[in-house]
Amino acid sequence: MNNFQRHRRLRTSAQMRRLIRETTVSINDFILPVFVQENLTGKEEITAMPGVYHYGLDEFRRLVVEIAEKNIPGIILFGLPAEKDEQSSSAYHPKGIVQEAIRAAKMEVPELLVMTDVCLCQYNPAGHCGFIRNGKIVNDESLQLIAQTALSHAEAGADVVAPSDMMDGRVQAIRSLLDENGFQDTAILSYAVKYASAFYGPFREAAHSAPSFGDRKTYQMDPANVREAMREAESDLREGADMLMVKPALSYLDVTAKLRSSTQVPIATYNVSAEYSMVKAAAQQGWIDERATVMEMFTSFKRAGADFILSYFALSAADWLKEE
Ligand code: PBG
Repeated sequence: MNNFQRHRRLRTSAQMRRLIRETTVSINDFILPVFVQENLTGKEEITAMPGVYHYGLDEFRRLVVEIAEKNIPGIILFGLPAEKDEQSSSAYHPKGIVQEAIRAAKMEVPELLVMTDVCLCQYNPAGHCGFIRNGKIVNDESLQLIAQTALSHAEAGADVVAPSDMMDGRVQAIRSLLDENGFQDTAILSYAVKYASAFYGPFREAAHSAPSFGDRKTYQMDPANVREAMREAESDLREGADMLMVKPALSYLDVTAKLRSSTQVPIATYNVSAEYSMVKAAAQQGWIDERATVMEMFTSFKRAGADFILSYFALSAADWLKEE
């Protein structure tokens, strides 16, 4: 008589493993982040992110068609404006790069889900996510600019606006301004739990948005805190967020899992730039298997409780998932 369990019995064949698998990754889980650059023709590769590009509007149109052909549900847009000023005015200009890209995407593929990153850091010379007065990032004065930015994206046709600035009260400010202007159906995906992370390094090169002074620790969260993350999430839900995001993904699986058990709304996780670059770099050296590593990461995001994943690997994931 055995007094131990034979767990291996259920691992004996691929079909058995398939049958009892608890978590799956599908093409339905992905949103591709895309960088659109004003006054650029063609596309330019981002040095620290091989395979990721800055797109001019012409190439962007082509990309949108490819995304739709690959059956990826949607994109999230990041803009690189030609001009930066203290008021971050290109962030909410009706003919700004993001606004133009939204219209272009909707013209090419009307059914593609278009999300936009709503933030000021790419649009002001200080490279901070809020408005600056006397060397400080001031909360309440930032709200109006951020809400204005979200409204301009909705007017251009965005389906979902995703504030990533981490100012307090921005979800409420955005929701009220959208509603006042008849955009009741525009959804808010809040970067509710965004940590002050070293994993954004390559993005700051990609988005030309490194802060010119200080850091983002007075608004983004301390990586050491998880109870605080639950409070951030609660506030954003109360203010009207439809979906919540945890960012970055990999080092914060516990946060995603905890949020999953305490809320009922859809949760996204952002597989950020350095999480991409690290895998790419190691794979280029032949030290890891890119596809296997990335699929394992995706599985862990889903297992932790994420409903969908923002990832620079989305185009590759589409190819891999088709082959499976
Ligand atoms: C801007 C923003 C950042 C990212 C998304 N939106 C950078 C930051 O806060 O410094 C990071 C994305 C990535 O690293 O892939 N507020």
